[in-house]
Amino acid sequence: MNPTDKNENPRDNQVEVKSLSPGHRFSMDVYDSDNNLILEAHTPLSQAILNHLRASGVHRLYFDPSKAGADKPGDEPVKKSILSEELRDETYQHTKSILEEMRYNFINNPGESISKATIDKSRVLVDKIISETEKNSDGIFDIVTRLKDMDDFYYQHSMNVSILASILASRLDFKPELQSAMGVGGLFHDIGFTSISKDILNKAQLSDSEFDIMKSHTHVGYKFVEKNPRMHDIEKRIILLHHERADGEGYPYGFDLDQYQNNVPREVRLFGLIDNFNLLVMPGPGKEGLTPRGAMRFMVNMIHAPYKTKFSFLPSDIRDFLRALGFIINRGRNFMNAGDLVRISTGEIGIIEEMNRLYPLNPRVRLIKNSKMENMTRPVVVDLIKTYKEYVANIYDRNSAGQYSLNRQEQANRT
Ligand SMILES: [Fe+2]
Ligand SMILES: [Fe+2]
Repeated sequence: MNPTDKNENPRDNQVEVKSLSPGHRFSMDVYDSDNNLILEAHTPLSQAILNHLRASGVHRLYFDPSKAGADKPGDEPVKKSILSEELRDETYQHTKSILEEMRYNFINNPGESISKATIDKSRVLVDKIISETEKNSDGIFDIVTRLKDMDDFYYQHSMNVSILASILASRLDFKPELQSAMGVGGLFHDIGFTSISKDILNKAQLSDSEFDIMKSHTHVGYKFVEKNPRMHDIEKRIILLHHERADGEGYPYGFDLDQYQNNVPREVRLFGLIDNFNLLVMPGPGKEGLTPRGAMRFMVNMIHAPYKTKFSFLPSDIRDFLRALGFIINRGRNFMNAGDLVRISTGEIGIIEEMNRLYPLNPRVRLIKNSKMENMTRPVVVDLIKTYKEYVANIYDRNSAGQYSLNRQEQANRT
């Protein structure tokens, strides 16, 4: 490529796929020659992506500085961390000791609940997280996903969820005791897993009966804390109800939509979203994690995808989740951008013209098809923030052949 083309074509920054190895990180997003996003900035390259590129005959990847990170040119992605490394490490060590304590109790002192000292220390720690993240309010949170083994999976997962739940509670102005309950609930929400054998926890493919055992972590965990007077009611409900879903496919009760709305408090519903998000991004037995951006797009598609008549989470909860955490977990950037093809909750298809920073599900959209899937006969632009009841219900990804799809099967296999 002629270097003098630089201004006309910013994609003269390129790299040979054969020169790359797993773990490589780029400082900018990289694309293939069809302009498909291959890897986000700062995300380690996995062997699976490399294999995929080689198998698809992709020899070069391209940087596009004009797309570096933002909607507006000049908007740099945020790099400052919202939480100090010391406090994150302290949270990790504490989460590890909680889960080790519970596994020990389960084997040696059945019926023993969580000790007063552990609960007190958890509250102090969550208070520290909330005050530190409020001070660094423009920072980002890099989800921790460097796993050693499956024990480590639950330590890191519970820590990530606790930190995100603390931040969300403070961003949404929950009462102080509820902010604390969300963070402490995060540390304890999966304690029921400590009763399950490591053989089952480490399996990639579970039989129905093994899956039932995995599901038991909700009520087994609840039994640990049910009568503990030091635990907040919301903490107990988080442990019991964080896997309930609006479509009746959750557990342990499988509530229908009405029961979900009436029996699962908003705090616990939002907690379930954070837990779900973190499970999507964590690598685990037999799966890779999605990127934070990919996980958020996937969750929007869970609101009420065209292939599903019911939604897994309430749209208003997804909105609150994205508003509170979207920028923090995606390095200060939007997870949708101008140019994305989307379906609106009323059925029309359109292209995003401009994002709304505070309400990411309510961008300005240029419609290309009406709700009967007929092409628009005249240009129509709708600003979804003005018609707040309507929102982006699906985001389409473009595959390497340039076709748009929800890619749900591929994503489902990875989750
Ligand atoms: Fe769980
Ligand atoms: Fe969890």
